[in-house]
Formats: sequence, C-alpha cells, structure tokens
Amino acid sequence: MLVTLNDVLKHTKSRGFAVPAFNIFGFEDAKAVVEAAEELNAPVILATNKVAIANTPIDILGKMLTQLANQVNVPVVLHLDHGKDYETAAQAIKAGYSSVMYDGSQLSFEDNIKTTKEIVRMAHAFSIPVEAEIGSVGYTDPNMKMKAALTDPLEAREFAIHTGVDALAVAVGTLHRMEEQTAHIRFDLIEEIEGQIDLPLVLHGSTGVPDEDLIRIAKTNFGKVNIGTALRMDFGNTLRKTIQDNPEQFDRVELFKDPLKQIKQTAKEKITLLNAHKYHAIL
Ligand code: G3H
Ligand code: ZN
Repeated sequence: MLVTLNDVLKHTKSRGFAVPAFNIFGFEDAKAVVEAAEELNAPVILATNKVAIANTPIDILGKMLTQLANQVNVPVVLHLDHGKDYETAAQAIKAGYSSVMYDGSQLSFEDNIKTTKEIVRMAHAFSIPVEAEIGSVGYTDPNMKMKAALTDPLEAREFAIHTGVDALAVAVGTLHRMEEQTAHIRFDLIEEIEGQIDLPLVLHGSTGVPDEDLIRIAKTNFGKVNIGTALRMDFGNTLRKTIQDNPEQFDRVELFKDPLKQIKQTAKEKITLLNAHKYHAIL
C-alpha cells in the first residue's frame, strides 16, 4: 500500500534496518522492484529522478505508480528524487507522490535553507514529508561540474533546525553513479553527525557501497538508502546480452524478461543486506 516516507522512516532508527530507495524509470522496473519487496515482505521506496520525469510526465507516473503501490500489501513510498525546485515538488505532490526530495546542495548554505524551508512549508500543508541535502554527494563524472563536499555535522544541525525537514541526505564518502562497490564510508563522520541531529539520514550513491558497509549502515541512523546505478547496469547489461544471444527476437516483452529478472534479483539482495526484510518482524 502507498505510505509516506515518514510512515516507514519512523521505524528505522536504532532498529537495525534501513529502507532501500530504488531509482526506477517506468512501469516494468517499478513492478520488478515492488515484486522483490513483496516476496521479502519488505517496505520499499520507488524513486523517480529528473530523467524519469522527463521521460514520462509526472502526473502519469503518479497515477501508474500509486496504483501499483496500492495493489500490494507491503508499504511502498513514491518519492521524487533530487527535485530541483518548488514547482517540481508541487507537481509531484499533486500527482500523488508520498515523499519529495528537494536538492539544494549546489546552492549556498543560506539559499539552501531558504528554499528548503519554503518547500517544507508547502509539502507539510499536504502532510507530505520532505528530504533535503546538506553537504553534497558528488558524481563520478567530472564533466557534470557538480560540487562534492562532505557534510559538516554542525551545519547539518543548523540546517535541520531551520528547515524542519523530515529526513536529511548527508555526504559521508559516496559518489553518485559508481559502477564498482569501492566507496570508502566515513563511519567516524556518521557518528559525529548522529551526535548532532536526531533525524533519519539518507545515503545517496549507494551502488558504490560495499556489501559489508551496507550491513553496517543499516545499524546506524541511515533510514533510507538510495540505489540507482546498480539496477541501471543490470538492465542495460542483461538486455545487451539477451539481444546478442537472441538475434532474431524483436519483441519488447520477451527482450525485457531477463533484464527485469536481474533487477528483481539485485533489489532482493539489497533489501536483505539492509535488513529491510525484517521490517515487519522487528516492529
Ligand atoms: O538519488 C539517487 C541515488 O543517490 C542513486 O545513486 O545511482 O549511485 O546508486 P547511485
Ligand atoms: Zn542521489
């Protein structure tokens, strides 16, 4: 069933699990992720970023994915990932999203606070939780010219107090779009941040996190763990192989079968590493 981000995050703190947020780009991969969650009886977050909403209008995504969420018994959050402005957040809420992220991480500290605060006020009026980012999780591609900076724990505290956000994305050693699990997670910094703020934390760029660190992360205040590239690689690489192995096949539904199976398999592995499959047993 469709639930809000707060509905799932309120249970994660100190309970030894985190909820994965998977980037999905359409109906088929969303369905594969929801099936993975259903089979493991775990909560899951469907995240659509700017590529996804540029590809399919957000009101269509909203209708399609809220319906998908409401067809299953596990908690499903529909989340706007890395929203860049007030209008997009408002459109997502109007479309039925149950969580929005505003990413002002490229702005100055003051401007990030100012815009985040405005979006929090608007979203909370509709009872929709807001995630924002302090510090900046960079990208592996230097051409993207995005600033990367580890989170300053005192800034995180000030940001949380001034904005009233529900969840906070912090930079603790990951980068977006890593293709190998080689991130060096700063667990010392996580402890410092936890000493300053009580909010559920969000980890971005989690494809790059080694399995043993995902297990450790689940035991910290990180309640939401964003995974995108792993599933995109699953889809593209498996599709490439399927086409090579079946040169005569042209049917989309057939060609997508193995890529979607692989997405589901990876989603199940990440859910298990984050202990999200224990959600109902732990509550
Ligand atoms: O917001 C989305 C995530 O941070 C995904 O990062 O594609 O590197 O796993 P990733
Ligand atoms: Zn991200």
